[in-house]
Amino acid sequence: MAFLADALSRVKPSATIAVSQKARELKAKGRDVIGLGAGEPDFDTPDNIKKAAIDAINRGETKYTPVSGIPELREAIAKKFKRENNLDYTAAQTIVGTGGKQILFNAFMATLNAGDEVVIPAPYWVSYPEMVALCGGTPVTVSTKQENNFKLKAEDLDKAITPKTKWFIFNSPSNPSGAAYSHAELKALTDVLMKHPHVWILTDDMYEHLTYGDFKFATPVEVEPSLYDRTLTMNGVSKAYAMTGWRIGYAAGPLQLIKAMDMIQGQQTSGATSIAQWAAVEALNGTQDFIPENKKIFEGRRDLVVSMLNQAKGISCPTPEGAFYVYPSCAGLIGKTAPSGKVIETDEDFVSELLESEGVAVVHGSAFGLGPNFRISYATSEAQLEEACRRIQRFCAACK
Ligand SMILES: Cc1ncc(COP(=O)(O)O)c(C=O)c1O
Repeated sequence: MAFLADALSRVKPSATIAVSQKARELKAKGRDVIGLGAGEPDFDTPDNIKKAAIDAINRGETKYTPVSGIPELREAIAKKFKRENNLDYTAAQTIVGTGGKQILFNAFMATLNAGDEVVIPAPYWVSYPEMVALCGGTPVTVSTKQENNFKLKAEDLDKAITPKTKWFIFNSPSNPSGAAYSHAELKALTDVLMKHPHVWILTDDMYEHLTYGDFKFATPVEVEPSLYDRTLTMNGVSKAYAMTGWRIGYAAGPLQLIKAMDMIQGQQTSGATSIAQWAAVEALNGTQDFIPENKKIFEGRRDLVVSMLNQAKGISCPTPEGAFYVYPSCAGLIGKTAPSGKVIETDEDFVSELLESEGVAVVHGSAFGLGPNFRISYATSEAQLEEACRRIQRFCAACK
């Protein structure tokens, strides 16, 4: 009898974690490494939010909470959906989890049976296909094109849907491409979904507050209210409020699904950390002033990185609408010889030679299901980004 579960053979280790590990090893050997792999804001959690957590500790809010979350947070979530997205949810239709990651996992766990298909546009966040596979479903990835700014075309979504499709995962702004769908672009997709009433929509709105210029964020049910009864709208405090370590994510959707997720959570974690939930109440109900401030900083960094990367020989980098990632193509370097003498055959070779040669850690696009590209996280200081881009330019120029 095998000791490890069969499910493990269906998942891959995280490429983003592997890159961070390699960068750490080189640093430990004394190399000067700039890590651009991190998926979290470099800002600290705002003081009002930290204070709410400290106050909660001092009040003795240190016991188990209701499985789906404290009533104050579920109310704050329902209010947030009304205020920011014009969506009507009662507190009972919301659930709080240990990060958005757990919300997604529990939604799949609650709904997927063997053979159920989940449509995932590529490039995708690394965890989607792995979670689907772990829960016994079949990920069906659909490629997008750089010339379309990595946005899924309505006809490609239509073609990917079969009678076995249970979920369509929508993520805008996207990790890893930063692409965000306008109201009109999203409407083209929701029109397709209206033709397929058996398909549920899982929208991951984690980067909602990180969009730049005059871009206006839109979420599926806001664009097509008829999808209300088959959409789970997921969000969280990790990225907008610089709270990755607090581990609070949330969702709203049809009661039957929320209750099923509650049941799983009840046998799994009993709910998210009480103190972090009180911090999240303040994040959602308190001042939102730092969001535009942080956005402005991110936007300046995005523009710097896009401009410097487009000056590197063989690299082409679109300007994404949101998140804190860019997803440039390194197609122009494929077939070239790196300074080490190795021929660059894939984006993984590109990334590995860049790290060896210039000490810049980025993540290869094939890990996100679409290449030859690589992902840069610009959630780090402008000085570091400038230096990293200079090194990328030097590396590309040295490839012959
Ligand atoms: C697209 C996307 N969704 C969900 C998450 C999960 O966020 P958390 O579990 O920190 O709430 C992340 C984190 O990197 C992400 O990039």
